[in-house]
Amino acid sequence: MDSAALRQSWSQFSAAGPEAAKYFYATLFVMAPEARSMFPTNMQYQEDKLLKALGHIITHLDDPAALAVFARRLGADHRRFHGEDQRGNPVALGPRHYGWVGQALLATLERFLGPGWTPALQEQWAAAYESVSQLMLAGAAESERSSPPFWEAEVLGAERRRSDVAVFTVRPNYLCNYAPGQSLPVQVPQLRLWRYLSPANAPRADGTIEFHVRATGRFSTHVVRRLGTGDRLLLGHPTGTALSSYDRAPHLPLLLIAGGTGVAPLRAVAEALQQGPGRRTTLVVGGRTPEDLYDDKALAQLASMPAAGAWQGGGAGWLRYVPTVEVGWGWQGAVGKAVETALRLGPWEETEVLVCGSPEMTRETVSVLTRSGVRPERILTESYDHSLYPPLAEASTAVPGDFSWTGAR
Ligand code: HEM
Repeated sequence: MDSAALRQSWSQFSAAGPEAAKYFYATLFVMAPEARSMFPTNMQYQEDKLLKALGHIITHLDDPAALAVFARRLGADHRRFHGEDQRGNPVALGPRHYGWVGQALLATLERFLGPGWTPALQEQWAAAYESVSQLMLAGAAESERSSPPFWEAEVLGAERRRSDVAVFTVRPNYLCNYAPGQSLPVQVPQLRLWRYLSPANAPRADGTIEFHVRATGRFSTHVVRRLGTGDRLLLGHPTGTALSSYDRAPHLPLLLIAGGTGVAPLRAVAEALQQGPGRRTTLVVGGRTPEDLYDDKALAQLASMPAAGAWQGGGAGWLRYVPTVEVGWGWQGAVGKAVETALRLGPWEETEVLVCGSPEMTRETVSVLTRSGVRPERILTESYDHSLYPPLAEASTAVPGDFSWTGAR
């Protein structure tokens, strides 16, 4: 496959910007009206995730092994996208949808590449698309044997912790096996928007999951303002590999640094440690003011619990919990940004560090830590962009803000 030709044509095509995405979706929805119901109700402000990812992947076929792993997982993940036909019958995503998307892609390329769209190039694109779709379909078929396409979850409780932050407890219809630190795609059926949220608890025997959401955009504002007890959510397959690797060097102490709703996945990790033999852990949670520390009570309680699996009497004091604020009248605790407070509690050279907060907070924290001597390979952060083919994820700035840390927009 001539990947240079694919790449070159894609970069020319990308210059067309949002017009090309509009054309692609219009072509797809005219050709296959049932595909419309799989996409968000309001696509006006929608990032063209599918088209962008497709281009990225197809123009980077140089590492077939890595691509196969990614595409199979993406295919398994795509089982959560479903819709209904014109009679209102449920429709699962299947091979015919891949056919329609492929046709819409080729038609869009033809329209925007003009004379550059030669029969040879068309053949290249068709073959590349076919190989990626076959991998995705194989991944989907494989995952059908072990998991449902998505989980339906009922909201058991909703608690407003601040005007813009709410905490939800939900119960999925089947046990959803996620690892502490991972996130799940979550959909509110009314909006048909999928966004990633991180469970704030270690997996429980009763299967319930706690989510923390801060209202920052359409999805999260809807969830914080409207979602209540008895409402229904859909959950996709758990994803994310960075924060859930917290146990890769269990002999080392842990430093967890959180900001905003980034506290959720780190609390899940801390809960998992408490249920095991414990581990010397420091959890620093930063806010601008004390009101930002919306989960303080739960975290203080966790810190007061001995580690369940520790030797007799050895489990107490495994977790040092340090809330810190930048400004607070009458505040008795630590003062400063989370990373500043963490540094005062160091040294952290021989420590595993997990950081989770807004993209800016995470970037700044990592940079301050590395400047203070913590080796970069000791620091784990999650990118929350699970759509990009891994070799591109680091370099890409293509979808900033698409996935906020735990409560996406
Ligand atoms: C080679 C083929 C395909 C590739 C590489 C691809 C890739 C992607 C990626 C990376 C995402 C973002 C995932 C996320 O946010 O978690 C996505 C979203 C989506 N894809 Fe695909 N996809 C393909 C085929 C299809 C097909 C055949 C359909 C069905 C018509 C489909 C329907 C969707 C939908 C409904 C979304 C969510 C869109 C949104 O919320 O904006 N995809 N796709």
